[in-house]
Amino acid sequence: MKIKDGNLKEVIYFEELDSTNLYSRNNDLVSDTVVIAGNQTKGRGRLNHNWFSSPNKNLTFTLVKEIEIEPLKAHIINFYTAIIVFSAIKNIMPDNNFKILLKWPNDIILNGKKVAGILTEAHDISSDRKKFFIGIGINVNQKDFPEELKEKATSLLNETDFFYEPDTILKNILDYFYQFFELLRKPEEIIQIWRQFTYPAGKSVSFRVCEEKEIKRAVIYGYDNLGAILLKNQTGDIEKHYSGEISFIY
Ligand code: BTN
Repeated sequence: MKIKDGNLKEVIYFEELDSTNLYSRNNDLVSDTVVIAGNQTKGRGRLNHNWFSSPNKNLTFTLVKEIEIEPLKAHIINFYTAIIVFSAIKNIMPDNNFKILLKWPNDIILNGKKVAGILTEAHDISSDRKKFFIGIGINVNQKDFPEELKEKATSLLNETDFFYEPDTILKNILDYFYQFFELLRKPEEIIQIWRQFTYPAGKSVSFRVCEEKEIKRAVIYGYDNLGAILLKNQTGDIEKHYSGEISFIY
């Protein structure tokens, strides 16, 4: 894998690795390093889920980046990255007819199924200037999915009938990430942009509050200026949830 990028200090490629996020967290890598795996054997998703990805067909990588941001606003990095990944994917698609959307807080949805996800981690969220491990998984040229994922996951290939060069997508993501980096100083602007590409208010959703069994139904009411979701529950009350608190059921 050859990535030339003036913004990066190091590119580390593994044919096989447990998880690029784990590797990045466990090694003292300089900021602006990208760790890429051809095959991830223990890919990790948000909320302790696994991230399944067929070997050598997709993109699985982590960008190590030092970012100056107030701890309470650190989740904005996820929204920012979601916009970047969304734009990079849109940019390489053959035309504009594909229905690609952002799903709160940071999934990328193509024709109703998840095509990419983001897991941002940090060792210790309490300091103002710290290293983040921004893990991105994109299903690019994968054709087959395990039975339990068929209904909810897809790939760029499956939805568009085109093969893509994963390196080109990665290059686009990194270019955009650095190009618009200063936006991270304006969380409300990020949320405003993000809102334009997500499900509008009024959509019915099923969700579960973390650790609870019960599946609840609600209608999306909106998103506040810092990215919390507002849901109108079945008794008509508006509930506010932050990312990490609830998971949607597809
Ligand atoms: C999610 O939607 O749950 C987040 C998925 C994040 C997956 C990526 S793949 C590269 C990086 N390494 C990991 O172990 N996870 C992230």
